[in-house]
Amino acid sequence: MLNIRVEKTTNPKIKPDFTKPLPFGKIFTDHMFIMNYTEGKGWYDARIVPYGKIELDPSAMVFHYGQEMFEGLKAYRNEDGECFLFRPDMNAKRTNATNERLCIPELPVEDFVQAVKAVVDIDRDWIPTQEGTSLYIRPFIIATDEFLGVAPSKNYLFMVILSPSGAYYANGLQPVGIWIEDEYVRAVKGGMGFAKTGGNYACSLAAQEKAHADGYSQVLWLDGVERKYIEEVGAMNIFFKIDGKIVTPMLNGSILPGITRDSVLHYCREKGIPCEERRISVDELIEAQNSGKLEEVFGSGTAAVISPVGKLRYKDDVYTIGDGSIGEFSQKLYDFITGVQTGKIEDEFNWRVKI
Ligand code: PLP
Ligand code: COI
Repeated sequence: MLNIRVEKTTNPKIKPDFTKPLPFGKIFTDHMFIMNYTEGKGWYDARIVPYGKIELDPSAMVFHYGQEMFEGLKAYRNEDGECFLFRPDMNAKRTNATNERLCIPELPVEDFVQAVKAVVDIDRDWIPTQEGTSLYIRPFIIATDEFLGVAPSKNYLFMVILSPSGAYYANGLQPVGIWIEDEYVRAVKGGMGFAKTGGNYACSLAAQEKAHADGYSQVLWLDGVERKYIEEVGAMNIFFKIDGKIVTPMLNGSILPGITRDSVLHYCREKGIPCEERRISVDELIEAQNSGKLEEVFGSGTAAVISPVGKLRYKDDVYTIGDGSIGEFSQKLYDFITGVQTGKIEDEFNWRVKI
């Protein structure tokens, strides 16, 4: 159990007008959580302080070799003012899977959850309640040793910042166009694709820029060896409804094990909806599309929630999924997941954590 010191701001910010559309990840609340780590001492000095700049030496290792990790989760508030997190223990566990890969020290699951709850509680008035909005929570750890040698740092900062946000894609639930990338790769087996670390996202930018230039929202990555099997999208996992069955690429070490992905699979299994985690080749997908069996495509992610895909581009061909609008199953899932998250429907799988 952390002993968290709290220093409240004496100069609260003016909150945005929550009735107007909120951007994703651009506005930050009044407070943030910080905790230090030093080798031999462990994690210490847990504190909540006014949101603001931090000072780091230019030689701090995170700037040079990218030893860092981050997470993403959301807080929701219902009309009665109750606040909820969605499966925060899963983010805490994934933090440690990432940390292990990047030689970052372990952060106890209960400390992660306690830190998130404490800072969200202090800024609970910043949780928007309009449809499609939430408080996006960004926990992260950075290596802070002042040293230019390549080695694991002996000092770290763990921080949690909060951003009242709207939909990740500017058009909300409108289906997005996805570019199937056949030139660049994101990750390979044995690499760090399963970890949530900045390098994976830096590596994705060139392909994303190419996709954006052609009017596509994100990139769908193929496996790094054969460029044949589907992996995931830039900021979400991917699902297909093929001939009545829900199919998603299996976890293979190069895909992020998404918490929303896990929730979708759990939902399908509990409700008796046929679903499979397996390898899916891009050829199989195109074949399913051409034979009229590809019924729906959607992404899953914390920021993206359930995001219908209306169009796929592969090499020189463009495929419109169904009639290009949101599929029935995608809409049902979106309603179920957001209903549980916001406290509007029964939490039948015990996913909600009240703050
Ligand atoms: N894949 C990538 C690359 C992501 O960045 C995300 C977002 O976190 C996801 C998948 C979905 O993961 P989750 O559902 O845990 O947010
Ligand atoms: C999330 O969904 O939480 C993510 O981390 C995606 C992000 C890269 C915006």
